[in-house]
Amino acid sequence: MMAGLASATDVFNEEFFEDPYPSYHRFRNQDPVLQLPFNLQLEQAQETYHDDADSWLVTGFDACSEALRNHQVDTAGDGAVDVVSALAEPLPILVIASLIGVPPEDLPQFKEWSDAMVALPTPETITSNRAKTLAMHDYIGAMLSVRRAEPTDDFMSTLITAGGSDEPLEDWEITSFCVLLLLAGNETTRNLVSCLMNVAADRPDTWRALRDDRSLIPGAIEESLRFDSPVQILNRWTTEDTALGGHLLPAGSNVAVAYAGGNRDPESFADPDRFLFDRPAKQHLAFGLGIHFCLGAPLARLEASVVLDELLERYPSISRAAPAQFQRMSRVIRGLTALPIDFTGR
Ligand code: HEM
Repeated sequence: MMAGLASATDVFNEEFFEDPYPSYHRFRNQDPVLQLPFNLQLEQAQETYHDDADSWLVTGFDACSEALRNHQVDTAGDGAVDVVSALAEPLPILVIASLIGVPPEDLPQFKEWSDAMVALPTPETITSNRAKTLAMHDYIGAMLSVRRAEPTDDFMSTLITAGGSDEPLEDWEITSFCVLLLLAGNETTRNLVSCLMNVAADRPDTWRALRDDRSLIPGAIEESLRFDSPVQILNRWTTEDTALGGHLLPAGSNVAVAYAGGNRDPESFADPDRFLFDRPAKQHLAFGLGIHFCLGAPLARLEASVVLDELLERYPSISRAAPAQFQRMSRVIRGLTALPIDFTGR
């Protein structure tokens, strides 16, 4: 166990939210599979079950990969622009809403509801956010009734016919799946775009190189996903005694798999704290691994590459207009709340 750690706030403190990567290195150097002397899940999620479970934090690339693969462990114009509010935030919602089949006139309302659904709850917003979540479910339910009567070529209509006449999907399955897509693809893609632009803002040479050779864009996106992973940590529960990284994790343990820690493991990535857009291709953990590998990875990659290509086309150079602000509410997500960038020289 690591000395000096008494509660989750010793791990997920101010310093961590500003720059989590030195902490991941410290934990990994101590042990890539580190036993914690407190229950991470309890302190973070206010869950009331598994209160006597062992808690582990996994920050080694190999150990993260093994844990994820082990199914038994499963349970705009020139000038200064805030890239988060102007681009990274609205884009993924618009894409998913259009994909599902939400008509353009309903998009502003839909965006308000979906923002409420992904927002981290505060005492002031919890009640109204819950009401907006219910309104979103009702809206999708009503859309579904219309599509059942009059199918179109959108995604919801495809889901209606997906199981054929033998095993059609039920209303609740279609509604939950549409809501899942919205939740899983919204904030994550927002943070890929903003983390990518945050890194680019300090690297004029990288911007020039990408502008000169657009075939480098996919590599830069993969490196951004590795370097500043939008999903930092997710939990698994062991359903049986499980060997991991030389430890025996008892059944019922909480295992916090730090994808972002694995992605900075020097044993797997040379010079891991440097952003190298031409780094040799290697599987990273940002989209997970194994049977829960991200369903939306191709869409997220496509959205980021279209945004980057378009911005490179328009602007010969970019620079930081003011310091970026990182969110400090969730240890699961690495994201920015503001990213003022000067777009010049169109
Ligand atoms: C940069 C953007 C994204 C990142 C970093 C990301 C990350 C992840 C990760 C790490 C997982 C695995 C969770 C686990 O191990 O349990 C996952 C699963 C998933 N993602 Fe994404 N995601 C992104 C975008 C999207 C988009 C755009 C969609 C849909 C439109 C989406 C839909 C899903 C779904 C449905 C799953 C669950 C898959 C399953 O459990 O079988 N994601 N994502």
